[in-house]
Amino acid sequence: MCGIVGYVGKKEASPVLINGLSKLEYRGYDSAGVAIIENNKLKISKCKGRLANLEAKLQQEPIHGAVGIGHTRWATHGEPSDLNSHPHSNEDETISVVHNGIIENYLHLREWLTSKGYKFMSETDTEVIPHLVDYYYQGNLEDAVMKAISKMDGSYALGVVSTHEPGKLVAVRKDSPLIVGVGKDEFFIASDIPAILNYTRDVYLLNDKEFVVITQDGIKLLTEEGDIINKDIFHVTWNADAAEKGGYEHFMIKEIHEQPKAIRDTMTSRIALEKPITLDKISLTKEQLENIDKVYIVACGTAYHAGVVGKYAIEQLARIPVEVDIASEFRYRNPIINEKTLMIVVSQSGETADTLAALREAKKHGARVIAVTNVVGSSASREAHDVLYTWAGPEIAVASTKAYTTQLIAMYIMALYFAEQKGTLSSERIEEIKKEMLQLPEKAEETLKHKDVLQRFASKTYMHKDMFFLGRGVDYAVAMEGSLKLKEISYIHSEAYAAGELKHGTIALIENGTVVIALATQDNLFEKMVSNIKEVKTRGANVLAFAFEGNNDIEKTVDSALYIPKTETVLAPVLSVIPLQLLAYYMAVQKGCDVDKPRNLAKSVTVE
Ligand code: G6P
Repeated sequence: MCGIVGYVGKKEASPVLINGLSKLEYRGYDSAGVAIIENNKLKISKCKGRLANLEAKLQQEPIHGAVGIGHTRWATHGEPSDLNSHPHSNEDETISVVHNGIIENYLHLREWLTSKGYKFMSETDTEVIPHLVDYYYQGNLEDAVMKAISKMDGSYALGVVSTHEPGKLVAVRKDSPLIVGVGKDEFFIASDIPAILNYTRDVYLLNDKEFVVITQDGIKLLTEEGDIINKDIFHVTWNADAAEKGGYEHFMIKEIHEQPKAIRDTMTSRIALEKPITLDKISLTKEQLENIDKVYIVACGTAYHAGVVGKYAIEQLARIPVEVDIASEFRYRNPIINEKTLMIVVSQSGETADTLAALREAKKHGARVIAVTNVVGSSASREAHDVLYTWAGPEIAVASTKAYTTQLIAMYIMALYFAEQKGTLSSERIEEIKKEMLQLPEKAEETLKHKDVLQRFASKTYMHKDMFFLGRGVDYAVAMEGSLKLKEISYIHSEAYAAGELKHGTIALIENGTVVIALATQDNLFEKMVSNIKEVKTRGANVLAFAFEGNNDIEKTVDSALYIPKTETVLAPVLSVIPLQLLAYYMAVQKGCDVDKPRNLAKSVTVE
């Protein structure tokens, strides 16, 4: 994980680096640091804790210079500490490096460098890099970095500066994201676009093992063999404001409220009444679909939960068997993949290491791969055969909300497209579902109005240590996401259970006052769900249930009820997840947690 930035220009580098890092804290925030070349000397400032600590330190002891690198860390090797913070340098502080990723063979390199007399100060894997660059340096920084990376296994996005060539910044990536910003007489590197949007909208998207060499005179893009690469500039069209809080107290609540628009945007031009469904440039004919004997949906975290709903939708509507896998499991379990496999990877960032590894594994074995991602130009979008973007806009809060609902929409669009091509549903039925889908933005808006019930419930229950989420069918998939939201931002332990399974063990944990959130939106399972609710009620549970409007009978069984607008049962997750997101948010606010930057987490997990 971690976020890196770099600057070469005419301005003071320090505020530019800090501003960039402030947009990358979603990638990690347990320490931060900068290295700036001041009067041909490397000046480094770094410390444990949030970026604000570094800012305060720089205010006390400013560093002046127009070339620098910066880092915000999510610790992997070595605890969060001043010493383990980046940038890391060689012994005489002539070379400094920021790194995002993991150098897998760092122990071996560390031993080897130690045998050559190099001394190590930190516990990090990164520290081998400045020493390796030092070892290979013979008058040209990019040559030395090229030689250094040829010895490194693992993943990296690197920014390197050196007093040997004080006006130069060298950067390279492999399996960790890196972009290059091109301004007027100034250049930037960053792990992600928002970090540079205040300065420029023109960027180069680097591929693996592509180098950039930046000086005041301009930039050179090079292959690892040192050949010049000619690349088109990618012009960012979305606004920097989209990545700001816009009056809301937290990014998470802002993003929850952006869902009606995000849902609408993701459907636009793909779903329209009485028109065939379009999947952008993706084409899968009836013959191709009939040749597919299995769909794998592979993802991590919230995206995985969207995949679970995708399984229900594709199997139900298009009658193709679907397996959903957690990417970190999929890649190592030797899955059966061949030309008859269709793989759908789901990833908000398009940079999650395990998801990308699964994508590559599937391609290697001949599967066709579709990436569902929110980030244009992300690794997943470039490496998959086809891409279906979710148009959620930049998601900043670590806890994913609008990315999830738009991933659900992408799943439904694909399921309907497959159904239309294969003829598994009548055209009338497809029109009915499309009609319901097109009403989801308004219904999501409606659902957002139920805050008072949730605030009240949160204020009464936020001190609880455990909670349970129950559901059947797609309600179970949503329960998993609701439980994850609660855990990640409020630190309340929770478990999601398929309601029918609870009695096979876990019901032993239900006692007087245990909080149970029950989802009961599935018409064909409603009665069964009511029975399951009764099972926990009898044992003293305090139950908050979510049901479709009109199912008010549920009030007889539960302590509190919240109604969501009626829609097709398979589409219910788009609406039922909203109160769950709000509930987690209010619990976290009540508990005084740092909603947007929960402890131990990072938004983009680019390590295994
Ligand atoms: C991290 C984030 C989650 C996210 C998961 C997958 O764990 O905190 O919110 O769901 O990564 O990320 P992706 O970008 O692949 O969707």
